Amino acid sequence: MPRTRPAADEPVPIEAAIVLAAGAGTRMRSARPKVLHSIAGKPLLWHAVSALAALSPEHLVAVIGHGRVQVEEFLAGADDLPTVVTAIQDRQLGTGHATGCALAALSSQVSGTVLVSYGDVPLLRTETLAALAAGHVAAGNAITVLTATVSNPTGYGRILRDAYGELASIVEQRDADEAVRGITEINSGVYAFDGAVLADVLPRIGSGNDQGEQYLTDVVGLAKAEGGRVGTVRADDPVETEGVNDRVQLARLARVLNDRIVRRQQLAGVTIHDPATTWIHADVTIGEDTEIWPGTHLEAGTTIGSGTSVGPDTTLSACSVGDAATVLRSHCQGARIGDRATVGPYSYLRPGAVLGEEAHVGAHVEIKKSTIGAGAKIPHLSYIGDATIGAGTNIGAGVITANYDGLGKFPTTVGENAFVGTNSTLVAPVDVADGAYIAAGSTVTDQVPAGALGVARGRQHTSAGWVLRRRAGTAADRSARAAGASADPAGVAHTDTDNDNESAADSTDAAAKDVTG
Ligand code: UD1
Ligand code: CA
Repeated sequence: MPRTRPAADEPVPIEAAIVLAAGAGTRMRSARPKVLHSIAGKPLLWHAVSALAALSPEHLVAVIGHGRVQVEEFLAGADDLPTVVTAIQDRQLGTGHATGCALAALSSQVSGTVLVSYGDVPLLRTETLAALAAGHVAAGNAITVLTATVSNPTGYGRILRDAYGELASIVEQRDADEAVRGITEINSGVYAFDGAVLADVLPRIGSGNDQGEQYLTDVVGLAKAEGGRVGTVRADDPVETEGVNDRVQLARLARVLNDRIVRRQQLAGVTIHDPATTWIHADVTIGEDTEIWPGTHLEAGTTIGSGTSVGPDTTLSACSVGDAATVLRSHCQGARIGDRATVGPYSYLRPGAVLGEEAHVGAHVEIKKSTIGAGAKIPHLSYIGDATIGAGTNIGAGVITANYDGLGKFPTTVGENAFVGTNSTLVAPVDVADGAYIAAGSTVTDQVPAGALGVARGRQHTSAGWVLRRRAGTAADRSARAAGASADPAGVAHTDTDNDNESAADSTDAAAKDVTG
């Protein structure tokens, strides 16, 4: 009995690869078809199909039935999978019937190697499928069954062997007696077939079993009766052959797949401090010497460069991050973060956030659909939306772009090496040109030209001794007097005995001292 081994240098050509995925998946208790539940960011069916697709079969067929509209929609939209022919199985009459539906969906008769696997078996590796096909062809088999030895075989079809140790038949759990139930070698449900033999015997399988179904496993006996050789290839790791029937198994296999992905990244030079709390989707790419800290989720479509630090407690979804960048305790979706840029802690980058090299986004900053130039800084507590911020510009604490007027969204542009004082609101559409300054606390509604200072707020008015006159006897009054204040201090002109509203004269020189970052 050959065990799985690395595929031969020359991969075996596969004529057709069939994925059975028509079943109801009742135990998921879900409105979503079982095979569209995801692990590592991709539906179970995606994992099953892509493992087969990597063998470049001439035909790739999925047999679908339950939730067929959703499944077809997924397959049609999955641009990271090759074209998959769908065969509709209206009633689930058994795995044999399903395989027949797949053959019927092909335009021509098959005569080469045909692989069959399941849409709810997501951990099967291409290497294992290749070893199955290679073992099948090398032995000149009509049928080769991928088997696994498991500690609890309950529910599986058992592998029965003859006196020579050769495959005799496959007996389903419900059709098995006590002795057969004790066998721990199981049928994974994954097979390599000689296409001509499969097409010949498939129409002849009956349904005389406990479930009244057409069992694909019955082709073993039929092929043998015609003098065909049958054999097995055993999977080294039985978890590869495990299927998902409920959400407990879904989480278990998600964990196993994540362990596999984490390990692959570690062996490729990524430091992952806590594999148990780090979740990485299948397609994520990470450069060497990047460090991933605990509680980090790297989701589909994310690429990270080298020497970058991500986490702890960070989610990156469909993001690209450059080299030597830092993303600390932040949530980023559809963002691009340049080389040596820094983000966080506690920031939120939304789709279309683009940070240039060495840009700095600090704590509690939200950025949406905005380009932040190289070396620009948004260190504290800002909302920046629909904006372009030039290189080297400093955005003070609490600056907000008011990009929405209740009806539409409008753009804000701030030029290079500009300075926007703290707690300013930039009311879009508005344009602050290169090298311009905005005084702290301004509400900017008009264009500020290059090199200008924009001040857009009321001037401070100070009424000396007001507390001593109007709040006499309070703690404030006592503290003020102790500090040397007087009710009518000499040398300080004040004219507002009843009315404290008068404003000081405007002076650009006076405003300049209020510009603080
Ligand atoms: C099947 C095998 C069993 C094996 C087990 C491995 C048969 C008769 N038995 O049993 O030996 O140990 O898989 O998991 O083949 N499907 C269809 N259309 C159908 C029936 C099933 O597409 O009419 C699909 C299901 O969606 C599922 C797969 O085929 O993905 C297996 O079907 P399931 O009913 O779970 O087979 P088992 O009874 O588990
Ligand atoms: Ca099953």
